[in-house]
Amino acid sequence: MREAASWLAPGRVNLIGEHTDYNDGFVLPLAIEYGCRATVSPGPDGLLRFVSAQESDPVEIRIPALQPERMTGWAAYPAGVLWALGPDLPGLTVTVDSDVPLGAGLSSSAALTCSVAGAANDLLELGLSPRELVAVARKAENGFVGAPTGGMDQLISMLGEAGSVLFCDMRSLEVRPVRFDLDADELALLVVDSRAPHQHADGEYAARRRSCERAAHVLGVRALRDVSLSGLDEALEKLARDSEGEELVKRARHIVTENARVNDVVALLESGRVREIGPLLTASHASMRDDFEITVPEVDVLVESLLSAGAYGARMTGGGFGGCVIALLDADAVPAATQAAANAAAARGFTAPRAFVTSPAAGAHALDGPDAG
Ligand code: GLA
Repeated sequence: MREAASWLAPGRVNLIGEHTDYNDGFVLPLAIEYGCRATVSPGPDGLLRFVSAQESDPVEIRIPALQPERMTGWAAYPAGVLWALGPDLPGLTVTVDSDVPLGAGLSSSAALTCSVAGAANDLLELGLSPRELVAVARKAENGFVGAPTGGMDQLISMLGEAGSVLFCDMRSLEVRPVRFDLDADELALLVVDSRAPHQHADGEYAARRRSCERAAHVLGVRALRDVSLSGLDEALEKLARDSEGEELVKRARHIVTENARVNDVVALLESGRVREIGPLLTASHASMRDDFEITVPEVDVLVESLLSAGAYGARMTGGGFGGCVIALLDADAVPAATQAAANAAAARGFTAPRAFVTSPAAGAHALDGPDAG
């Protein structure tokens, strides 16, 4: 075995397609410049040791104690990756250092799991492909940590490409890079982190997932992906007759219209009409706010302020209940829009947001030479 292997895996923002992934639908995320660097090296026999530059204390666990849904805290994610790669693990030490803002809905957890999966795969010479590493990272989160997430985050962190958003069919897991060259159009994608506390996010996420599954069951389809836009009215009439009708109608309407918006955005980007995606982004936000009910006043206020400052479109990105909004705007409008967002948050007494400009970065990759570790 070599002495150590290091990988870097990015966080992500999702341009559009929210909560569609676990409905077998479509998403259009991009990898961002913030990421997690992981180094895996041999350790004492029978012991897994996790060290994070962001945490004061290392976490240690004996290999036989590695059981699903027993560990909590940050180390459960890298531990879950090793569990998913097992059995027959040797003693290992995992060291991570991440600059993905935590709790901001930018997939710091996928950056963590994907970087550890890549590094462990190299060190242990398992020969897994990037797609198999996506499955490992996903198994860690779903099967070990116990978070019922839908797979978009691991897919984009592992397979993202600089300069492109990744159009993903979350049923077939087929992906297609779509050019998103903002510089060429003198555009910018601004990310504004509301820094709103993520209250009840896990429980609400699971509740949305249950509602979608119930709606699909009532409609007799495998997943809400199978309801077309033209069949939506009929589907909603059927759902309305269910005992949870009002809620199911709203949840299903979001998913079906959101899938259509993702496809419309892809078509516009592929024909070079980048500014025209703006209204679709804004419509996605309204759908998340009114139908899927996953936004909070902190993010709604940011979206409104960015639109007033001239953005072509703006929406919350990620799982919801706080986190970040994104806005598409002319590059030279960024300073004024950032100020407008800060002013709007201050006027409501909300925590001061943090903003940064992003563009599609590379997906996970090995770090060699002096950069490693
Ligand atoms: C979180 C989950 C993803 C996806 C998004 C919402 O990021 O990890 O699987 O469901 O929320 O689109």
